Amino acid sequence: MDSGSRLPSLTALFFLIFSAKEQDAKCEPKTDIAFIKTHKTGGTTVMQILHRLGYLRNSSFLLPQTDINNLYPYGLFNPKLYLPPIQHGHGILTHHTVYNRPAITKHLSENSTFFTIIREPLSHLKSTFSFYRLSRLMDDYESTDMEAMLTFLANPGRYDTTFNTKSPGRPVSFTRNPMALELGFPVHKLQNTTANPSSEDIKNFLQSLSRELDLVMVMEYFEESLVLLRRLMCWDLRDILYLKYNSYEYGNVTVPPGLVDKHKRWDSVDYALYEHFNRTLWEKIQKEGSDFTQELDHFRVVENKVRTHCTSPKDKLPTTVEGSPWNTQFQIDSALCTWLKTSHMCYWTLLRDRSLKFHISTDQRKTPPLRKKPDLFYVKLSRKLRVSSGIHSPPFCLLCGEVQKYCSDHEYVSHLYQEGHISSLQSSSNRLELQGGWHGGDPLPPA
Ligand SMILES: *[C@@H]1O[C@H](CO)[C@@H](O)[C@H](O)[C@H]1NC(C)=O
Ligand SMILES: *[C@@H]1O[C@H](CO)[C@@H](O)[C@H](O)[C@H]1NC(C)=O
Ligand SMILES: *[C@@H]1O[C@H](CO)[C@@H](O)[C@H](O)[C@H]1NC(C)=O
Ligand SMILES: *[C@@H]1O[C@H](CO)[C@@H](O)[C@H](O)[C@H]1NC(C)=O
Ligand SMILES: *[C@@H]1O[C@H](CO)[C@@H](O)[C@H](O)[C@H]1NC(C)=O
Repeated sequence: MDSGSRLPSLTALFFLIFSAKEQDAKCEPKTDIAFIKTHKTGGTTVMQILHRLGYLRNSSFLLPQTDINNLYPYGLFNPKLYLPPIQHGHGILTHHTVYNRPAITKHLSENSTFFTIIREPLSHLKSTFSFYRLSRLMDDYESTDMEAMLTFLANPGRYDTTFNTKSPGRPVSFTRNPMALELGFPVHKLQNTTANPSSEDIKNFLQSLSRELDLVMVMEYFEESLVLLRRLMCWDLRDILYLKYNSYEYGNVTVPPGLVDKHKRWDSVDYALYEHFNRTLWEKIQKEGSDFTQELDHFRVVENKVRTHCTSPKDKLPTTVEGSPWNTQFQIDSALCTWLKTSHMCYWTLLRDRSLKFHISTDQRKTPPLRKKPDLFYVKLSRKLRVSSGIHSPPFCLLCGEVQKYCSDHEYVSHLYQEGHISSLQSSSNRLELQGGWHGGDPLPPA
């Protein structure tokens, strides 16, 4: 018997006895969530977690209506750009929008948990250059993105104007304090490209953010941030599992110290933001006490199990994850893998489809018009786009064309099962004539 392998479970048992009860007593899982999704910071991975959580709990998401970027930057002010709530008001915001607390609490409970995620500014710049191919907008078309970034850093004021004219109407500079701007730093204080915001402005900004946000996650410490989030929300560890995606590789470049200094001056609010919230993240972790590290280790072990299971090409029998102070016992099975892998575009589509169905059936029942009628744009569109019949047609879906575009058949059938449209694969598969076949794994959880 390998005594080493017994140790974690004994430790877990200890905490099960001494801390689980204490946590249970004061902890109610929270599902009112305002996640301020910043660009190029790992936000899509966080959004994916929130999509899964809220989708499976039937939460009402504040959703962009026709374009995934409808809420960005100021879509919350325009009712044509988002869908009305199902239930009494929206529960979750997770799509890109510029942080504006009053605009958000008009839709969400004032008691929602507000959080965001930031990233080390130089690494943020590299990612931005690479993702948006900013080299294309500079003089030397031949250079790689990372070479172009070095040229840019030698003279940022000259090039940033070029970048901005390419995105009219967007308040965001790609390179100059982009995170601070998305978190509500006043745009007018950054319009002068030669002057830096005063340290007083920065101080006020950081103070109000510290007061208003319940958590600022840091991409460099993603797992630590997730564990803090789990504790803050009283969720189960299962709720914060993720499969990383939407990450892009970029060239490996060393930026000379002189250019780093220039970047620090150019991007001063973001550096201050990062320094402040990286510090407070670690202060929070200190305050959590010694079982934080134990939870983090446990989380990493479970994450590995999940990743191995869900990325394995062959069907596997479900694996059990034993209970711990941080999670109840659960199965890693094909349903969990499916909802972990579903892309944000598919979630967005399924959530809108669910929302439209709700509104349309509400209208048909002639209930008092509690809420604004959604635009029938989508219903018309889906009729036009309808490519096949069977389950890819009403009443199963309304956005049928988009469902076909963004969700695999496997995801969609799992969705129909989730919604109670079909009771089990066994009884339905003969009737479902899907084109393209299944996409890996058991299509459905066992009946
Ligand atoms: C969500 O809605 C579906 C369909 O109405 C229902 O079967 C399911 O039990 C609901 N889930 C939760 C957690 O309320
Ligand atoms: C928010 O919380 C406060 C204090 O717990 C409570 O009085 C208030 O009713 C809550 N507001 C909403 C919209 O739930
Ligand atoms: C921008 O700031 C610089 C330095 O503070 C100042 O000299 C210049 O007049 C400002 N330009 C505008 C348009 O405000
Ligand atoms: C990046 O380059 C440095 C020095 O050239 C090297 O030591 C490092 O391993 C490289 N990193 C990656 C991720 O390729
Ligand atoms: C974040 O803060 C920690 C603790 O102070 C420090 O060790 C680390 O270097 C900081 N991380 C970055 C990327 O600056």
